[in-house]
Order: sequence, then C-alpha cells, then structure tokens
Amino acid sequence: MNAALERIEGASIPTFVVDTRAIAERVVADEIVALMRTRPTAVLGLATGDTPIGVYRELCAAHRAGGVSFARATTFNLDEYLDLDAGDGATFREWMQEQFFRHVDLARENAHLPESKPADPNLTAERYEAAITAQGGLDLQILGIGRNGHIGFNEPGSSRDSCTRVVRLHEVTRSDAVRAFGALARVPTRAITMGIATILDARRVRVLAFGARKKEIVRRTLLDPRSSACPSTFLRDHGDVKLFVDREAAALLHHAR
Ligand code: F6R
Repeated sequence: MNAALERIEGASIPTFVVDTRAIAERVVADEIVALMRTRPTAVLGLATGDTPIGVYRELCAAHRAGGVSFARATTFNLDEYLDLDAGDGATFREWMQEQFFRHVDLARENAHLPESKPADPNLTAERYEAAITAQGGLDLQILGIGRNGHIGFNEPGSSRDSCTRVVRLHEVTRSDAVRAFGALARVPTRAITMGIATILDARRVRVLAFGARKKEIVRRTLLDPRSSACPSTFLRDHGDVKLFVDREAAALLHHAR
C-alpha cells in the first residue's frame, strides 16, 4: 500500500493515518476507479456530509479526464431525511446531485436514495433493502462516522442485525445538522437509513474520519467495547474494512499504537 499511509499495528479495525485528508480521499477514489474498471456494473454504497466530499471531487475529476465511467454502475446512498419535500435543497438527493451525480455519467434511474416524503416510509425502507439485495449487494461502501458513533443514521442503541428502516435522529446528529439547515427547528426528526447489517454485508467498507472533532469517536470506534452504544464499533466484524484518519482525528490513538 501507499507509503503515505501509516498503518496502526494491532488496531481493532485496519487503520491508516495520513498527513492530510487529501491523501485518503485519493486512495479511496483510486480504489473506486480501479473497481469500476474491473467491474463496470459495480454497486456502490454512498455517503453524504463533509467526510466523503473530496472522494467525490476526485471521482468527478477522474471522470472528466476520461479515466472512469459510471454508465453501468448502480449506487445506493446510506440514508435520507424524512419529511422534506422532494427537491428541497437540504435532501441528501440534492446534495448528491450537486457533489457527484450531475458531474458524471451515472444513469439517474440507477442512483438510489430513499424517498424523503413517501406515503409509507416503512414500506419504502423495506423496498430499499430488497432493491440492494436484488442488485446482488454492495461492492464497496463509503462511510463517515457521526460524533455519537452512528454509521449511516444507525444511532446509539441500533442493533447489529438492523436492516434498512425508519429511525429517529439522535440529538447530537440533529445539532450537527444545524450547519446544513440553519436552525435546529428545521432539522428533520426522522430518516430512513440502511441498517448496520446492510452496511456490514457490503463486500468492502472504506471509512474516513477527519479533523479534531472526530478524534474522540475514532478513539471509541477502535477501543470501546463492541456494542450498540457505539454502532461504529461493529465495523470490527467486517472482513474487508479500512479506516483512514488524518493526524487530528488520530490524536487520541496512542494506546492503539
Ligand atoms: C451521511 C451519513 C452520516 C455521516 C456522519 C458524518 O450519509 O450517513 O453517517 O457520514 O454523520 O458526517 P460528516 O461527514 O458531515 O462529519
């Protein structure tokens, strides 16, 4: 692997420290490009938020340079807020549109996110899980970690066996989302998320965490007891997971080294 990646020996999840987030973004984007070249019909699991933004930037640049096509790919995003109108600028669909979809040749009908205002959210969630299964599962899932240990919107208390479902958002998740919504009162209280089992069924999982605001949750992800209290600890169960952290996010990992 890349010399710019310093592996933390003995960590409970294969963990790589990078000097700058750009290095990790490039490594993950390169892996996705390589996957798309060997398997043009790959099924990608996507995330939104600050963490993966540079990976999309790299993928868009690679596409522009003629280095990769998503024409035959399928994507499933981890999650979507409920109770927002379709087309609301705060939906994850709009975010994906802006950061990735409109810059590449992915067919719109192959870019899946749960609906944000479905008539029957439980049924929508059930069908989303079935659609992932019908595609043969996820080849590679990109993942960020919430400051409370959530992966997707699997908040503390989520079961290891959970599938795609309707969830209530945790207060930390909602207060972190004020950045996008402007005011807490505007942040939705519910969402649809892939479950922990759905995520762990992906054939590869690539997790990113950057900045000092993630240092405590990175420490807990690697060192806390594996439990629903911190859902990201379940990533230890995966056979092909890699965690990439910058120096700030790795600041509390002296014990893990
Ligand atoms: C996003 C998602 C969330 C985020 C997490 C970190 O689709 O499912 O789990 O990955 O909240 O968010 P950022 O990257 O904004 O710090």
